[in-house]
Amino acid sequence: MHIRKAVILAGGSGTRLHPVTRATNKHLLPIYDQPAIFHAIDKLVDAGITRIMIVTGPDHLDDFAHVLGSGQHWKPKYGKEKQIQITYGIQNKPNGIAQGLFIAKEYVNEEPCVLYLGDNYIEDDLEPYIKNFKDGATVFLTRVKDPERFGIATIGKDGTVLSIEEKPKKPKTDLAVAGIYLYDETVFAKMADQKPSVRGEYEITYVNNKYIKERKLRAVMLKKEWFDVGTFDSLLEVSQHVKNKRGKTKR
Ligand code: G1P
Repeated sequence: MHIRKAVILAGGSGTRLHPVTRATNKHLLPIYDQPAIFHAIDKLVDAGITRIMIVTGPDHLDDFAHVLGSGQHWKPKYGKEKQIQITYGIQNKPNGIAQGLFIAKEYVNEEPCVLYLGDNYIEDDLEPYIKNFKDGATVFLTRVKDPERFGIATIGKDGTVLSIEEKPKKPKTDLAVAGIYLYDETVFAKMADQKPSVRGEYEITYVNNKYIKERKLRAVMLKKEWFDVGTFDSLLEVSQHVKNKRGKTKR
């Protein structure tokens, strides 16, 4: 089944990027020559997604509307114009990823969907996974040097995820769950009895563990670069990466 809809989470207070994020939202800061969220949108649209809900806080919602509009005549900085539909959801407080996705429940409306954390930058092509999605859920894994900061997975021989621990003190592997998830229509039911975690958030790891219990969480290893854009250093690093790439393709 081809997934049509995606939810991009673009909220958060961006405290690690203060004072810049007092003026605007982290996802509107530049990765080299475009706002970070353009990369997420282009990645999804290139993979065949045509409907996107952007979930963000009330503070900078107008900035997103100014920059992105409705998506009609969506013109990537590089590439041809496309007709997509962008709509907006408001998360009043940054209470976690699962809560952010839950805001899109009516929008997703019993279809499978992509959940994309807008501060993740990837190079891999998502199209094969989005086009050939069946049921259950898919997560994308990448090796990291600081596993204490992420959701960390163990996987079986057949590529099924056996466990995910959120920010473990003693990580079992270095396989971090990247912020891109494919879910079938059962995802919202899996949040029904969810409580906030010790850090006070509705964790997406809770939802993924429900799929694990059903043996329906598949893992795909990312083959190319992945960046988590949350600090000035990572913004600089990913910007340099994109600049080098553009230089090579002579766009
Ligand atoms: C979130 C998820 C975590 C995942 C990470 C990827 O962490 O909870 O499992 O590995 O995104 O970016 P957070 O950004 O909320 O610390």
